[in-house]
Formats: sequence, C-alpha cells, structure tokens
Amino acid sequence: MKKTLALVLAAMMVSSLAACGGSKAESSSAAASETASEAASASSEAAPAADASDITVGACIYKFDDTFMTGVRNNMTEAAKTLGATLEIVDSQNKQPTQNEQVDTYITKGVNALAVNPVDLTAAGPIIDKAMAEDLPIVFLNRQPSDADMAKYDKTWYVGARAEESGTMSGEIIADYFKEHTDADKNGDGKIQYVMLQGEPGHQDATLRTEYSIKAIESAGFGADKLAADTAMWDKVKATDLMKTFIAANGLDKIEAVLANNDDMALGAIEALKAEGYNTGDATKYIPVVGVDATAPALAAMKDGSLLGTVLNDGKNQGIATINIAVAAAQGKEINKDNVGFEVTDGKYVWIPYVKVTAENYEEFAS
Ligand code: GAL
Ligand code: CA
Repeated sequence: MKKTLALVLAAMMVSSLAACGGSKAESSSAAASETASEAASASSEAAPAADASDITVGACIYKFDDTFMTGVRNNMTEAAKTLGATLEIVDSQNKQPTQNEQVDTYITKGVNALAVNPVDLTAAGPIIDKAMAEDLPIVFLNRQPSDADMAKYDKTWYVGARAEESGTMSGEIIADYFKEHTDADKNGDGKIQYVMLQGEPGHQDATLRTEYSIKAIESAGFGADKLAADTAMWDKVKATDLMKTFIAANGLDKIEAVLANNDDMALGAIEALKAEGYNTGDATKYIPVVGVDATAPALAAMKDGSLLGTVLNDGKNQGIATINIAVAAAQGKEINKDNVGFEVTDGKYVWIPYVKVTAENYEEFAS
C-alpha cells in the first residue's frame, strides 16, 4: 500500500513538474520529450521510465463537453508529456460513427497504441477487432466493455473505477445524514422518499450507482421510497429541467433526498431547488443532495452548503494509468504494476479507488 501511494505520488509530482514545463512543450513533441525525460529521471519509480519519444498514442474521448472527462483528458495529456510520448486526442462528439472513423484514421496514420472512451459500449467489439487486425494495443477507459469483448484480444485493457463502490458511498452519505438529522424524515415513516437523477442509460456507472446507493440506504436500516427517477444524461442543464418536473409532480414537502449519479446533475438539481428558495442557507428549507465525481464546482457547492456530499472519481489516476498502459504496451512491455505503476487485475483491469467526500474531508480534494 505504501509503495502504491509512493508510486502514485511520484507520478503526480512528475506530472505537475511536466505541467510547469511550459507552453512550448504543448505543440512540439521534441520539447515535450525533453521536459518529460528530465522529470522522469527525478523519479525512476514512475513507470514506465524508458524514453517514449518514439511512441504515439491515439485517443478518442466520447465527448469533450463533459466535466469529469475533461479532467481525465487533461491528465492524459500531462501523463503523456511526463513520459515524452506524443498523444493525439480527439472529440468523438457523442457520435459512434465519428469515433469509428477516428479510430480508422489513427490506424492509417500508424499510431502505436489506442486509448478509447467509447460513445456506445456495444461498439467496443468492432473497435477491438480493428485493433487486433493491426496487432495494436488498445486501452479502454471510463466505459467498460463487456467481458466477452475484453476477452477477445490479449492486448486489450480497461482503466476505470468500480461503479458499485461509488453508489455505496453516496448512499452511505445520505444514510448518515438521516441518522444525524431525525427530522429529515419529514413524514416520520422511517423511509427516505427520494428522487434519482440518472446518467446515460446502459452506462455501468448509471446502472450500478443507482442500484448500490439504494442498497446502502437499506443496509443502514432505512426504507427507500422512490418518488421519481429518470435520466438527465450526466448533464447539468437537463438535470435542472428534470428536477423541476420532479418538484412539480411530487411537491417539495414530499421529497426528502436527491441522489444524482454525478455532480453535474446534482448541481443541476440544486439550481432547481434554489429557484424555490431551497438549499440557500435557510435550515428549514433544505433537502440533502449527493453526487459523484468531486468536480471543482461540486466542492465549491459543498463549501457553500448546498451540496451534502460527493464521491471522488479519481480522474487524475485514471488518466495517468491509461497513458502508462498504452505507452508500456506500445513498448512491448508486460502490463503489470512494475511497468505501469498501478495494480493490474486479471492482467487486464486497473481499478482506481473511489473516495467518500463529506463535510469533514472535502477541503483535501480542492486543487
Ligand atoms: C462517469 C462520470 C460522469 C461522466 C461519465 C462519462 O464516470 O461520473 O460524470 O463523466 O463518466 O462517461
Ligand atoms: Ca420519510
């Protein structure tokens, strides 16, 4: 454990050093590799340490206009600089056909590894087939392909986080609040009347966060009474509209808790509550809201008291792990902890832990 922390810290230090390395490194891969190899020698533990200036990774992100994935993307860029590798990264604009073309273009160009955040998970299979035909390593991130797809090709990896864990943590935050505030159970029936704002249908994080947050509330001894649940597609503006619908249909007096599969939707719901004079500081007009991700705006909302809690979705380490694996695989190395700096499960999966973020510890996460 100590060693993992040291590795992670070393990787983080190196990435911030490289980030300070300056703007000229941004457009010139030669300059980037110089900055990065200097930084890498400061920490030979931050694997993979070999010079990667001859490696190009082609990455596709499902859409750039996503708060959490923007953080991951920026960390991928920094991680590539740290290693001296070239990273090309494109916006799939939430369109699978666009992403398929981007993958084809990378293959034609001759990149050395792919990093793909799929738009549609069912498209992972055909993308793996393309990579396999070229003997090209491929790392998926954030959206987990099926086991069958993952098993098709031995140069396929996945970097992500266990969605169940984040669901459990967000449910525990709500349950703890109800234990400490008995009058939060407004109708005193021992059950928590909640509304749920869900992520994209079919996304493992939406399905499992929804399921496990409620399981955690029930394991803590509360009944859970669903007033309403629907998707707001991870999106803040859609979440405000959805929450307004929920309020109109149920009445603010009936809603006892708001669970959102991510922070953008939690913040969107808070906008709708604020419009009704809720969650603005008046203790008699407050409904606990939880999210997931621990984005900067969510931490600010915890500070001002409008958001009860969240769960850190560690985009920094997800970004670093993705690039470390892509580069190490392109260099023909075995993908294990020594070579990529992260524990590898079943030879294919890197699981980055979630962290519960509450009033007690949120200040540690502000960057
Ligand atoms: C989740 C994250 C969401 C959104 C989604 C995109 O892990 O919590 O905010 O970024 O990934 O796939
Ligand atoms: Ca109740």
